[in-house]
Amino acid sequence: MSSSTNTGEQAPLLGDGPSLNSQDRAKRQTPAARVTIYGSLTLLFVVALILGIVFWEKLGGFVGNLPKDPEKAAKRLLDVAPIIDGHIDLPILARWAFRNNATAIDLEGDLYGHVDIPRLRKGQVGGFFWSVYVGCPDDEAAGEDYINATWRVRDTLEQIDIARELIRKYPQTFELSKTSNEIKSAIKLGKVASLLGVEGGHQLGNSLSVLRQYYELGVRYVTLTHTCHNAFADSCGYVPGIKPRWNGLSPLGKTLIEEMNRIGMLVDLSHTSDETARQALKLSKAPVIWSHSSSRAVHDHPRNVPDDVLALVGTEDNKTDAVVMVNFAPAFVADDGKADLEAVADHVEHIASITGKKHVGIGSDFDGIESVPKGLEDVSKYPALIAELYRRGWTRFELSGLTGRNLLRVMAGAERVAKDLQSVGTEPKYDIYTKRNDL
Ligand SMILES: *[C@@H]1O[C@H](CO)[C@@H](O)[C@H](O)[C@H]1NC(C)=O
Ligand SMILES: *[C@@H]1O[C@H](CO)[C@@H](O)[C@H](O)[C@H]1NC(C)=O
Ligand SMILES: *[C@@H]1O[C@H](CO)[C@@H](O)[C@H](O)[C@H]1NC(C)=O
Repeated sequence: MSSSTNTGEQAPLLGDGPSLNSQDRAKRQTPAARVTIYGSLTLLFVVALILGIVFWEKLGGFVGNLPKDPEKAAKRLLDVAPIIDGHIDLPILARWAFRNNATAIDLEGDLYGHVDIPRLRKGQVGGFFWSVYVGCPDDEAAGEDYINATWRVRDTLEQIDIARELIRKYPQTFELSKTSNEIKSAIKLGKVASLLGVEGGHQLGNSLSVLRQYYELGVRYVTLTHTCHNAFADSCGYVPGIKPRWNGLSPLGKTLIEEMNRIGMLVDLSHTSDETARQALKLSKAPVIWSHSSSRAVHDHPRNVPDDVLALVGTEDNKTDAVVMVNFAPAFVADDGKADLEAVADHVEHIASITGKKHVGIGSDFDGIESVPKGLEDVSKYPALIAELYRRGWTRFELSGLTGRNLLRVMAGAERVAKDLQSVGTEPKYDIYTKRNDL
């Protein structure tokens, strides 16, 4: 059948289209037709270029110049690339100060602590992980094999609940976000993307089933340890000299990481021992995070990440993609009384000097720290840190990585790994902790 009757309807750039008859071919050769074709191509090119620029802008790309004035530059940058903080402890404040009564908590007012809605807005925050934290059980109560700390799962569920209730209470502000794409769409709607992170393997009740159920409730990272060792891994403790229990990951801890990779739960290495971090980096198929850790070379504290571990982070061969989200806790930042905004910027820059700027982020620990650095007193102050790094020569592309894009990349990477593992039929792990005797 001849196609000459509908050639005029065909989009010239989509596929081959129907074959042209000789008359059409002759028409194509005329200068007028050539002008039309080249004209259309030029128009298409220009449209693509404009779309590209707009898209790039959305991603916080480097097209266009920031103002010279650092404060103005920070504000402009955060308009398109707001802060996504890896660790904010508002839920534990809700527990301790308000007995988890969401009705009693007025986030629109001037809330005690470092976080409320007016200050989140002033600080140009686009998202944060609400830390789901309950403390380590004391050694006595847990028992030497950690099997008696049963309240920790209940308390963790209560902390997930209070976080979700507060998110639900302010739907104009917060949006529960479970994927990198959901973070981006919440930000596009002008909301604060709200994620959940569980701060310690001791909160898992020694159980991979509990891990999976936390994921179902919206949790997207689990810190392998808090300040105590647990059934899965060794902690760095809080003061130097903690004696390892497993020399890194326990056998069940290795399985935990495989299962986290399979379901798309980010592995968080803050609080872990150096050996735990090294082994986890090697084992994890997915990118990992440090939700709130700074640099040990800048300030010597066990909670900070040493350079030899930072050297394992990257996208090159034998390295693991990760983002190290810098903690503001004065005790991790500098000597007593010396913690300030410049010192925090020093941590950011030192980590970046080892890992590259694609691997740093911000994990303030606000509401989880008793004191704050000078100049970074609460969530309204992030722009000052961005201004300081701009002053030190960071480009808008690098800064937008720091504020959130690096985390989004890592999260999308973990989502991809989970999808791949599931699509090849990787079975869930059903391992039972060997010290249990009830199953
Ligand atoms: C929760 O807080 C509200 C507002 O302060 C108060 O009226 C209510 O009694 C509280 N509920 C409990 C169980 O304490
Ligand atoms: C842990 O619980 C078991 C079973 O209830 C009990 O026999 C054991 O004494 C407990 N251990 C500790 C250290 O409390
Ligand atoms: C990566 O590790 C493998 C195995 O240990 C080694 O053979 C290879 O040389 C390493 N590659 C790089 C770039 O270091």
